[in-house]
Amino acid sequence: MRRRAFLGRAAGAGFGALAASRFAFAADAEVVLTPGAPGPVISPHVYGHFIEHLGGVIYDGVWVGRDSKIPNVDGIRKRFVDDMKRLGAPNLRWPGGCFADGYHWRDGIGPASARPRTYNFWEPRMPRGVRATETNHFGVHEFMRLCRLVGAEPYVAANVGSGSPREFHDWVSYCNAPAGTLSLADERARNGDPEPFGVKYWGIGNESWGCGGNMSGGEYATEYRRYIAQVPEYVRPFLVATGPRGHSADGDLAWTEGFFAGLSSARGLGVRVDGFALHYYTDFRQTAEDGARFDARGWYAVLHKGAQIENVMLDHWRIMERHDPEHRTRFVLDEWGNWYRGGTELGPTYLLSQAITLRDALHTAITFDIFNRHADKVAMANVAQTINCLHSLFAAVEDRYARTPAYYAFEMYRPHMGARLVPMRVQAPELSVGVLAGTAKLAGIHGSASIRDKRLCVTLTNPSLDASVSTAIRLDGGGRVSEGRGRLLTHAEITATNTFDQPDNVTLRDLPVDVQGDAARVVIPKHAVVALELRIT
Ligand code: AHR
Repeated sequence: MRRRAFLGRAAGAGFGALAASRFAFAADAEVVLTPGAPGPVISPHVYGHFIEHLGGVIYDGVWVGRDSKIPNVDGIRKRFVDDMKRLGAPNLRWPGGCFADGYHWRDGIGPASARPRTYNFWEPRMPRGVRATETNHFGVHEFMRLCRLVGAEPYVAANVGSGSPREFHDWVSYCNAPAGTLSLADERARNGDPEPFGVKYWGIGNESWGCGGNMSGGEYATEYRRYIAQVPEYVRPFLVATGPRGHSADGDLAWTEGFFAGLSSARGLGVRVDGFALHYYTDFRQTAEDGARFDARGWYAVLHKGAQIENVMLDHWRIMERHDPEHRTRFVLDEWGNWYRGGTELGPTYLLSQAITLRDALHTAITFDIFNRHADKVAMANVAQTINCLHSLFAAVEDRYARTPAYYAFEMYRPHMGARLVPMRVQAPELSVGVLAGTAKLAGIHGSASIRDKRLCVTLTNPSLDASVSTAIRLDGGGRVSEGRGRLLTHAEITATNTFDQPDNVTLRDLPVDVQGDAARVVIPKHAVVALELRIT
């Protein structure tokens, strides 16, 4: 059984006494916010996305084709565009993933009928007899069209594994040079886009320790330097270096050490690393855990392991600090999410698609709270992947489409984008929970807060399967709560999901919030996420 013990985080006194003496409300847990304290701005790009030429992500998920009966905008699935706009999706990473280091951008420009059919990294993983030849019908212009439709910044992963600095530089010029300057810019204009794409975010390869080239951190540092030395600067680029496999048993600390040590000799000579791409999958591939069917142990195991991303970030941050004490380089967590063993795919060709349940929604919320709390370290993050793959927000098969429970966590957290982080102290019961092997400690409440224009956004998750938590939220340093509104994400069943037949099984509801003086109170149901908007005066 799970045991509750009251523990304070970043706070002092025992909780029991506080509830009675300092609040107008009696409560099980206390959240103290200091809206007046300085804090970093939460980059909107933390709520970013990733789509790869893999299984059903691009073809069918995003791209249905111009002649499709499925509602589309220039071949792009309309419901996907509408939902991404609704979320204010800040960026889209493309074309991979492992696919990126085999992708040659010239294959994806010009008349679609004349584009070559090429090899796709994921082809050997397709079911026997089913080809996954890349048609290149979704290429550079189609991707940029999608970004413009959504209002998202393109984040392009360049090919280091089988490409060259020249191919990369030409791609940057093709995207960003003004028409009338370079031949490449005129070629772009002839292909339908006279206006430059203005791509700022460039990834220099992907997982260069594995499918992106099987390099060591030191070897990759040498490649990185070659790739960026003459990168065309039509737009001041934000350059992202490949980071470690954070979900490795040893955290892959050697990669970070090797990469930064490999750079250091030239660092004073202007080698710039704006972002460092840490990947962290909550990886259950080697277990029997699947996305759809699980018990309490599976529930807690996933949430507990997901929360370990914080320790992994801190371990790598300490190494980065030794090499870069001013922290010119920040994290770009450009692949994160849950990864279960197979068995719940949308169909045999929808590689790496999996059932997404309420558990994944809570994992999303806990992850976002960690990213928010480390807003000084995180420049960007990209869920892997947005549609039809792993930790998806959307499932789409032909004309059927559904938002997953994880989608709603993105919707709830939207007010944090670009808002200023507010320090939060939590005193809440700590849970002792059974996980796949043994027991683990899990915070009884996970959360973060931000402020914009006197409006606080407070997001809180109660992972317990046993009990709701009555929670008092108090302002420290003066200020009153004049109004409070809440939204709630939960379901009676922890395995609840949204299917094509029942697309609204898991969705948001309103949650009552009591406000009084300098405090507000909510009851956070068991296994639930809440998002509160508190107006303060
Ligand atoms: O997101 C699926 C795959 O996971 C990506 O292609 C790769 O970068 C990672 O290993």
